[in-house]
Amino acid sequence: MEWCLTMPKIELHAHLNGSIRDSTLLGLAKALGDEGKIVFSEFEHVILKHDRSLREVFKLFDLIHLVTTDHEIVSRITKEVVEDFAAENVVYLELRTTPKRNDLIGMSKRSYTEAVVNGLRAVRTVDVDFSSCTAGGPPTPDCRNNSCAGTAKKKIYVRLLLSIDRRESTEAAIETVKLALDMRNLGVMGVDLSGNPIIGEWGTFLPALKFAREQGLPVTLHCGEVPNMEEIQGMLDFIPERIGHACFFGEEEWKKLKSTKIPVEICLTSNIQTNSISSLEVHHFEDLYRSKHPIVLCTDDAGVFSTSLSKEYSLASSAFGIGKKEMFHLARNAIDFIFAGDGVKKALTHTFDSAAKKLDL
Ligand code: IMP
Ligand code: ZN
Repeated sequence: MEWCLTMPKIELHAHLNGSIRDSTLLGLAKALGDEGKIVFSEFEHVILKHDRSLREVFKLFDLIHLVTTDHEIVSRITKEVVEDFAAENVVYLELRTTPKRNDLIGMSKRSYTEAVVNGLRAVRTVDVDFSSCTAGGPPTPDCRNNSCAGTAKKKIYVRLLLSIDRRESTEAAIETVKLALDMRNLGVMGVDLSGNPIIGEWGTFLPALKFAREQGLPVTLHCGEVPNMEEIQGMLDFIPERIGHACFFGEEEWKKLKSTKIPVEICLTSNIQTNSISSLEVHHFEDLYRSKHPIVLCTDDAGVFSTSLSKEYSLASSAFGIGKKEMFHLARNAIDFIFAGDGVKKALTHTFDSAAKKLDL
């Protein structure tokens, strides 16, 4: 469906290292293989496999992290991921990533995140607005990639969320929140909790997430990826600004979610490929959509799941029988759930208004 590609879209749930191009991943793995650091053929097999279980997905992430832990590579991946989303007509991207520390190569959580910001600065194919300091105010030299002053290039707003990995301790999680606070002027907008859902306890991360909230940082949580009802209840009681997935909810959990109106980031392909949901026919998208619960379609890991945001729109449109106009409204409604401020919301409203006229919607 060509119109799914053409219309402007908002992406709110994309993991940096899950969104790597296959070609880049294979190239990086090949180079490491040539250096004798990994066995390339084993790696290639895992990368090219599709329909992975959730367990296999996390095995793949461990492999991806083997080849992406280097400042230059982190910057390169960020640049490519932003270019890929912009080519999809994503006009606002909230990109999330887990700041990583690797003493062996002199990488701290801060230097990792700075490498991500450097990747935003390096984008050339599109005008990137990546810093909150532009919201509503005039751009400063550090707020944009500055690649296209005076030209009519496409523009994408990019904001960052720093992820806490469920393998981390309370102290490490607090360190990530502090880093997010320190880097607010470079476009860090909030905090995410992600990682293997069978690892870690909700109580371990709660102090860090409470601290984020006290400091005014919005929080999004991976919630209900496995049937851990106690954790789901705890997460909903926290009332995060958004949640991702919501696959294993029972009646009580749906009731709580709907009464709190917490927006849900829906990742159809990811849920199906990891077998979290058996088929689109029984996916909770339909119920949430029909009951007008706030939702936003997202990719999760466009590289790992071989998808794109327009494919997700196309999938939702055909699976649930939703027409072009309604899909456009679904995309536009996501403006309300972004973590950036009113200046960006106003600019996005204008973008969608213009697109509606141009696309006759
Ligand atoms: P990164 O944070 O940029 O390294 O992106 C990859 C990481 O995102 C993985 O190691 C996980 O911690 C997290 N992630 C990606 N997809 C999922 C998911 O479906 N569930 C939970 N965590 C995920
Ligand atoms: Zn995710």
